[in-house]
Amino acid sequence: MGLSKTIWTTPSEYLRIQQPDAPVMFFSPAVLQATARRFIDGFPGFVTYAVKSNPDEIVIENLAAAGVQGFDVASPAEMRLIRRIAPSAAMHYNNPVRARSEILTAVELGVASYSVDSRSELAKLIALVPAQGTEISVRFKLPVAGAAYNFGAKFGATVELAAELLATVADAGFVPSLTFHPGTQCTEPSAWDAYIRAAAEIAAMAGVKIARLNVGGGFPSHRLNEIEPQLEAIFRLIDTVAAEAFGSDRPALVCEPGRGLCAGAFSLASRVKAVRDDEHVFLNDGVYGAFAELPLIGIIDRTEVISPDGVKRGGETVERIVFGPTCDSVDRLPGVVALPGDMQEEDYVLFHGMGAYSIATNTRFNGFGELSVATVLKLKG
Ligand SMILES: Cc1ncc(COP(=O)(O)O)c(C=O)c1O
Repeated sequence: MGLSKTIWTTPSEYLRIQQPDAPVMFFSPAVLQATARRFIDGFPGFVTYAVKSNPDEIVIENLAAAGVQGFDVASPAEMRLIRRIAPSAAMHYNNPVRARSEILTAVELGVASYSVDSRSELAKLIALVPAQGTEISVRFKLPVAGAAYNFGAKFGATVELAAELLATVADAGFVPSLTFHPGTQCTEPSAWDAYIRAAAEIAAMAGVKIARLNVGGGFPSHRLNEIEPQLEAIFRLIDTVAAEAFGSDRPALVCEPGRGLCAGAFSLASRVKAVRDDEHVFLNDGVYGAFAELPLIGIIDRTEVISPDGVKRGGETVERIVFGPTCDSVDRLPGVVALPGDMQEEDYVLFHGMGAYSIATNTRFNGFGELSVATVLKLKG
């Protein structure tokens, strides 16, 4: 991926001058750093970043510069990335299933915090990781709603198994902790309420005082004009419920947002290839590219349409079916997208809030997927 060294004022300035025919991600370091400060100032505990959501080096560099000192890593490649860019940062290896070779790499790279959700994976950690000063967080799941999709189908022990694993962790001499993930784009704060209260029950069942409770990622980003995420309200609720549920045994809190930290700092410009018979819109990016997760999470309606001469289209909106560029018929954005009626072929559609699970999951299917990043002072217009 090419990174322009020039800082542009706005996406429209770039689009007018460069006339790109491939999709462009516009990145605002100011927005990323402000979001990081929002988490660091508002969350009642240690803020870490889930690298998987956007592992671009400029993201890691800007988060580290803004004061993020911990990273949730899922693979040796992510660990090496963090060691290179933020060598003194804490790494939490919170992918609960690992090959033995991956565990040995983590030990070598100084990882001192792991999550686990099964007896067999805990046995591997006990065999391979020195216990002294190392945290093992037991990941549990609950059947609660509120997220765009549920992570419990793949990861998380039941409450009963979590209590058993937690007791084993403590007996083996590791630092015992608990962790959960309420599911990504979780707009329902009550999910955290239920999980935190369950964590206190698990600790009581195990007879273990936990050192830390990691309340996951899942913090929502701004995807729909109508729904502005209420991060501070979620932070306050987490603080209040942790105090109520644990009383004097309250553990230190950790969070590991991916989307909530990085999504808002990027806007994607995708060019209109065609408006087929004045009906369907074909863009030069789709679900095999930077829009990969839209079929799972739903549409982003925070859009602006910019003409090739850099002017924002302002016509009455028309609801359009929008397809991506590949020959595959599933390459379609979910539902319909309201776009200005005066939109033309060769215009650019700017989608805001596109920083998470986009650059990281973009593919070159069908020969498309050339994606560059341009740095801007402002993401609007
Ligand atoms: C263990 C873990 N933590 C944090 C995250 C980040 O989640 P989100 O982007 O919803 O904040 C993920 C995402 O897959 C995850 O698996």
